Amino acid sequence: MGAVNAENAETQAAWNSNASFWDERMGEGNDFVNMLIWPAVERMLPVTPGMQVLDVACGNGLTSRRLAEQGASVTGIDFSSEMIAIARRRSAAYGGRIAYQVIDATDEHALLALGERCFDAALSNMALFDMAEIDPLFRSLARLLRPGGVFIFSLMHPCFNNPFTTHVAETGNGKDGNVTTYGVKVYCYMTNASAHGTAMSGQPQAHLYFHRPLEALLGAGFRTGFVVDALEERAFAPSDDPAQNRPLNWSSAYSEIPPVMVVRMRLLGQ
Ligand SMILES: C[S@@+](CC[C@H](N)C(=O)[O-])C[C@H]1O[C@@H](n2cnc3c(N)ncnc32)[C@H](O)[C@@H]1O
Repeated sequence: MGAVNAENAETQAAWNSNASFWDERMGEGNDFVNMLIWPAVERMLPVTPGMQVLDVACGNGLTSRRLAEQGASVTGIDFSSEMIAIARRRSAAYGGRIAYQVIDATDEHALLALGERCFDAALSNMALFDMAEIDPLFRSLARLLRPGGVFIFSLMHPCFNNPFTTHVAETGNGKDGNVTTYGVKVYCYMTNASAHGTAMSGQPQAHLYFHRPLEALLGAGFRTGFVVDALEERAFAPSDDPAQNRPLNWSSAYSEIPPVMVVRMRLLGQ
């Protein structure tokens, strides 16, 4: 088994082990999804009735359900059979508006079997950094999407919130007394690298994160005919409520550092 395949298999096993814990904690969305990501997704993906949307690495189906509520016809895929079982249970009331399949997004052959030129849009919420490889997905999306189709993805901001960043809070003397500044220390950015981590505190099993600098991440799209036509860097506002069910340490104190980035790439006409 090659290194990438071994990492992919390890990642799949970890997500199967963590599926129930993830679902209990995530439910229908946490602060990251509700406050940072979804407002940007709605701006970038105005859903029209009957629009065909592929939800890549859909997890428990929370974004599939949000899209279906807006009128889309959704295909949700994930390589974790445990996640897909949970997604199906949670989506029972959605009837034929969402179809789920267990598909590995690194498997180009399986992706293309979904049907070439069948989708108006694709979404991947907080998952590209969980994938051992992203080139097969971009190559497939270039054929799955209709001309002019869009791929919207959110992810941990590769510059400020990658597995090799740490939070830094420093207190020093300001002119009005002690002042605490909040930032991040970045000690690996330029190199594609994987590292174990957890998405939520208390997670039963650590899983691999796959860091890619922006050049590598967006380059996978550029090489397959996509251009970036929208991008938002999302941080909590200073006025946001203190952390409720927010992943790890991010809070409104870090309002100058965006933990999340949402990107829309559009397939140039063919
Ligand atoms: C952080 S969760 C996000 C789930 C969902 N998109 C959400 O917003 O709640 C990452 C998901 O990516 C899935 N995943 C990781 N690598 C994958 C791959 N190669 N193919 C399909 N799904 C994958 C995991 O099983 C997991 O459900």
